Amino acid sequence: MNRPAMEGLRLNVPAYVRHARLVEWVAQVAALTEADNVHWCDGSAEEYQRLTEQLVAAGTLMKLDPVKRPRSFLARSDASDVARVEDRTFICSAHKDDAGPTNNWMDPREMREMLQTGENALFKGAMRGRTMYVVPFSMGPLGSHIAHIGVELTDSPYVAVSMRTMTRMGRGALDVLGDNGDFVPCVHTVGAPLAAGQKDVPWPCNPTKYIVHYPETREIWSYGSGYGGNALLGKKCFALRIASTMGRAQGWLAEHMLILGVTTPAGKKYHVAAAFPSACGKTNFSMLVPPAGYEGWKVTTIGDDIAWIKPHGDGRLYAINPEAGYFGVAPGTNDHTNPNCMASLKSDTIFTNVALTDDGDVWWEGMTEQPPAHLVDWQGRDWTPAFAKETGAKAAHPNARFTVAATANPVLDPEWDNPEGVAIDAFIFGGRRSTTVPLVTEARSWVEGVYMAATMGSETTAAMAGGNGAVRRDPFAMLPFVGYHMADYVQHWLNLGEKLAAGGATLPKIYCVNWFRKGQTDEDRGKFVWPGYGENMRVLEWLVGRIEGTAQGAENVFGTSPRFEDLRWNGLAFTREQFAAAIGIDKAAWQQELVLHTELFRQLESKLPAALPATKEQIEARLEKL
Ligand code: OXD
Ligand code: MN
Repeated sequence: MNRPAMEGLRLNVPAYVRHARLVEWVAQVAALTEADNVHWCDGSAEEYQRLTEQLVAAGTLMKLDPVKRPRSFLARSDASDVARVEDRTFICSAHKDDAGPTNNWMDPREMREMLQTGENALFKGAMRGRTMYVVPFSMGPLGSHIAHIGVELTDSPYVAVSMRTMTRMGRGALDVLGDNGDFVPCVHTVGAPLAAGQKDVPWPCNPTKYIVHYPETREIWSYGSGYGGNALLGKKCFALRIASTMGRAQGWLAEHMLILGVTTPAGKKYHVAAAFPSACGKTNFSMLVPPAGYEGWKVTTIGDDIAWIKPHGDGRLYAINPEAGYFGVAPGTNDHTNPNCMASLKSDTIFTNVALTDDGDVWWEGMTEQPPAHLVDWQGRDWTPAFAKETGAKAAHPNARFTVAATANPVLDPEWDNPEGVAIDAFIFGGRRSTTVPLVTEARSWVEGVYMAATMGSETTAAMAGGNGAVRRDPFAMLPFVGYHMADYVQHWLNLGEKLAAGGATLPKIYCVNWFRKGQTDEDRGKFVWPGYGENMRVLEWLVGRIEGTAQGAENVFGTSPRFEDLRWNGLAFTREQFAAAIGIDKAAWQQELVLHTELFRQLESKLPAALPATKEQIEARLEKL
């Protein structure tokens, strides 16, 4: 193979790399960004060790206490680089109408000029003084027919080590790629070139940020941020935005969904894929511990954030988790909300923006009831409970994260790495709504389920910059993640259901849930009505019963919901009145809610599937009769 050599820069291509197109592209990006050096990641444990040591020496990572948190690190990001930046995220399709009204769009020629080709293009010289890491990765089990390969070029060693945890990264991915396989090219820079002799900072980044997707050429270019979904390009950029466009073209689904297995005491196992917006408890639900009284039930995790779902020859939908690790929100995670997650984090974890205890361990809001007497907060400042009381200052950033391998999870499903995936029996869609949306409703048909998912609203969270609790429509929990026109995306779901049904398949049932209703009476105002976490098992049991044809329910305006007597309450003191507050339908609130559905339809008007307004009319007619 011809190995391009560049003046002043050796590409350091390892002998095992056989893919000429890949080498050519690496050479082009190295030339554009003027990286000082190129390192090809092999994904080995030695490489991880070397890079983490280098990050410790640079001050990006801090080693935690080796007894309390073996082989674990704390990173503190720049205070301006703490979450996904949705307003800086672009879908640069050739035609604006293909990106649709819910995405930021820029003409791809203009964007390329600004980023790559113009005189002052942002990527020109952006990696000066830095090493460019070549990070090959597989989204999904190596060699799975549902998986796809990507290669990220990044000047952030923090990103390189995080990608090893979050994906199947290294030589194995290159082996799958062979000498001519297809890959999604992902280019990432923190946008902070170093002049000769200039001292680096622990978390380099740039106030200017661009997270850019070219759906036609399936490329990702990310500039200026080193944080999470902005920088670990396998996750939101590839596995959702680019993959959703691939799925549309090829007849499959890329979804913001956890995947769990639920096994009954009779030993029957079902698989559920559940979509919730960011920071709404997907990780908790995927690792649920059944409460007392549910002996013999088992919940196991296949994935906690993303599902790739493809139709199979048997007419069923099979899902894989394209990721290999969890990049979860730390605050609120504790031994009650998610004991399995706490067990996963005992060692070999990178924590970002959590607080540091005086004995070299980590802490975040909600980890323990009583905070430690003294901490160093996520920005490296002294923090005490008294100071917090006075100022409201959080010790951990609300979007502080952990990065840990899936294999650390004590309830990891034995099928999690199965290249064939698992057959999905039910879909769940859930938003964070303090009012209106009932605890659980089963759609009567695929179309009714798609309507529920498409009109989902949710209160925004800290996972997005500026998230402040306001309700926004978040169709399928995919608002920030669909790489094309949202109306076309809804149509894609309708088409897929129609096609599977026409082939004689029994489609997965669709459910809408809301764990987050708050009390409206003087005594319980502002408090969650539903206890959530392990108690969500009761809803899961009802759902399994519906699949098996044994659980009862009552039809309502939107579908079928359980009555109080249809759920099992052993071990939980929950009254009929509380249940009514969690599941009841308030006619006036729903009439207002439907006005918001109309607003969404207006926004998507040019391509809106006719099934949506038709379903809405049926709901309105039923609501009128309430
Ligand atoms: C995530 C998110 O990081 O949805 O998973 O923001
Ligand atoms: Mn997510």
